Amino acid sequence: MRLGIISALAEEQHGLIEALESPYKLVHGMREYTGGKLWEIDAVCVLSRIGKVAAAMTASILVEKFGVTHIVFTGVAGSGDKNVKVGDIVVAEELVQHDFDASPLFPQFEIPLTGLSRFATDTALTQRLAVAAAQTTRVHRGLIASGDQFIGKLTQIQGLKAAFPDLLAVEMEGAAVAQVCFELGIPFAIIRTISDNANDDAAVDFMHFIKTVASRYAFEVIENFCKA
Ligand code: ADE
Repeated sequence: MRLGIISALAEEQHGLIEALESPYKLVHGMREYTGGKLWEIDAVCVLSRIGKVAAAMTASILVEKFGVTHIVFTGVAGSGDKNVKVGDIVVAEELVQHDFDASPLFPQFEIPLTGLSRFATDTALTQRLAVAAAQTTRVHRGLIASGDQFIGKLTQIQGLKAAFPDLLAVEMEGAAVAQVCFELGIPFAIIRTISDNANDDAAVDFMHFIKTVASRYAFEVIENFCKA
């Protein structure tokens, strides 16, 4: 296994690059890829930056240029359910692009020519991540929705919940990584620590959380994942 580890922002991957043994660096397409051994696992860490295109490009390059065989995305997300609290972790079982709409040519949310609106994560990787995460905090498993929008208004999150009643979290990259991995046949998993409630307070909560808890959780969970 060669594991690609993606986060959007540096805080979400805090400490991981320093933990890589025998690191090597390569800059490509405005991103720095750092490879090495992460607790005995051959890994490549990279920051995608924010959004679906950025994430799709990063995932593709990890596979095509760095030869990764598995991908994990670790980061933060807004809550999409009243039982999912700030500080909890959501491990995705399915991902949807909530801003994708090619109707009336295709049903809303369906990704043309895949026949799918929801992409399933790899069962084994997801299980291993969920077990690792449960050593750190409360874990939920289910649907994550991604789109090129920071969800920071109560009406926005209410609209998404109406469209996806089983929604657990919202973010801006996971479903793009999911589509790339589906199309390339790469097993993948997505883990998100909840930083905010995707409501009118979201931006302030996000800024606070990302500096404090997010970084510590990401490191702990990936360490436990790699050692499992
Ligand atoms: N990532 C963290 N919080 C988010 C939110 N409220 N909307 C989109 N992405 C997020």
